[in-house]
Amino acid sequence: MNTSVVEAIHQDLAAHLQTGRALIFVQTPDEEYLEVQLKLMAASMNAELWTWQINDGLIPNQGQPTQDPIDTLRLLQQSEQRPLVWMKDLHLHYSAQVIRALRDLYFQWRQSGGMIVLSGPNVAIPDEIQRETALVQLEMPSLSVLQSVVNQYLEDHDLGHLPERVLAATLKGLTLSEARHALARIGAHTSEHQALSYLAEEKRQLIQKVGTLEYIPEVPTMDELGGLENLKEWLIARKELLLSDDDETRAIAPKGMLLMGVSGCGKSLCIKAVSSAWQLPLYRMEMVNVFSGANGPPEQAFAKACKTMESMAPAVLWIDEIEMGLSAEGSSQSDSALSRIFAYFLTWMQEKPAGLFVAATANRIDLLPAEMIRKGRFDQVFFVDLPRMQERKEIFRIHLANRGFDPTLYDLEVFADSTKGWNGAEIEQCVVSAITSARLQQRQLELKDLYLARKQIVPISTTMEEQVRHIRNWAYERAVPASKTEEL
Ligand SMILES: Nc1ncnc2c1ncn2[C@@H]1O[C@H](COP(=O)(O)OP(=O)(O)O)[C@@H](O)[C@H]1O
Ligand SMILES: [Mg+2]
Repeated sequence: MNTSVVEAIHQDLAAHLQTGRALIFVQTPDEEYLEVQLKLMAASMNAELWTWQINDGLIPNQGQPTQDPIDTLRLLQQSEQRPLVWMKDLHLHYSAQVIRALRDLYFQWRQSGGMIVLSGPNVAIPDEIQRETALVQLEMPSLSVLQSVVNQYLEDHDLGHLPERVLAATLKGLTLSEARHALARIGAHTSEHQALSYLAEEKRQLIQKVGTLEYIPEVPTMDELGGLENLKEWLIARKELLLSDDDETRAIAPKGMLLMGVSGCGKSLCIKAVSSAWQLPLYRMEMVNVFSGANGPPEQAFAKACKTMESMAPAVLWIDEIEMGLSAEGSSQSDSALSRIFAYFLTWMQEKPAGLFVAATANRIDLLPAEMIRKGRFDQVFFVDLPRMQERKEIFRIHLANRGFDPTLYDLEVFADSTKGWNGAEIEQCVVSAITSARLQQRQLELKDLYLARKQIVPISTTMEEQVRHIRNWAYERAVPASKTEEL
């Protein structure tokens, strides 16, 4: 692996090595990344980098058998040289003798300047050397590292003009070797769309292993979302902050938003559109899977998903219907688990890395704990109400155009006016059933099809009038309207 792709030396690791820590355990799933880091460190300190692992022994070879860890540690202790020695998976070979030999070497080198780096995928430090060992957790490769990997790959393979930043963001969360495997799949497929979908597929499979998270590769654009102008403006204004390369700008980037409101009005659609407008990969956390038990106790499943998301940043995390599992009466079995999950979530929202945008939706926000909507957790809480006159018109237009019809041929003004109280999903349903009935009669879509279809639909604002009114009253004082106009 070419070291030039890694621009940044890991701060923590560098700090320990430069201040002369003689024994460091690096927890990392990515040996290749660690190798690059150690090469850079060794070069910057003018030290030699030696490696040991059980099959090859010590390299450079010292002319003696060094597969046995005790032999190796003794050999190092007798050596005049003071290299940086990287011992891979030594924890798999610990015995009383190995630990003793390691401690002896540590005490000698602490005075005289050699360095031992141990590594493994999980933290494995025996009690006897706890105090002597510094622990470093090496995260997955950063976006800038991946971007250089992508750049180099595109150059080497003459693939030129693909969007490196988007490709790199798609690879975020993978180890260096996983990222390079994924890139290798691009191969001859040079169109931007194909390249992205290859990477997306690799990524989707990886995420599936987490169980509670789903990677959503294909997302609609903002143009497919009708109305909600306030919300759209807010989102578009913040794009630059999230995508900035500058740390200070990124630090003030939004942490997240909560969309609440009447169902079928475009909350889920809006979140998909955010990911496409910001060109950030989208992941959905399924609360149902958190509570299913298939991924361990709910709290653990939730915490694991949050941790996984940290290595995916920059990205959008979509938590759909976050109030799921809360019972309206307030005291179901799972409520205590849920309140612990919420407590964890609120702390995590404060601490999670910049560039990870959390977009949550809730239909019954009044069930959520008050801290959830307090300022500072989410940057904004939006209320997505039933669409206004102009918005309904736009939604009709979008759904006709999406299905290949010219919206200017229909008097949508009249139509929007006669569908007061409808949500977007109902408008879509009306368009679909009008098109279906025209097709069945083997003729072009006419306004009368839309009128007939309209008669078949009873909007939820009628069937669930009480509940809709309740949500509205609640939201009126507590959330910012997503739409610009007041008038229905
Ligand atoms: N504002 C809108 N613009 C365009 N389509 C909409 C809008 N609101 C709802 N729809 C249509 O209804 C479907 C369901 O909406 P959804 O986003 O799932 O609603 P919610 O999450 O608020 O319950 C969407 O996929 C879309 O086709
Ligand atoms: Mg939804």
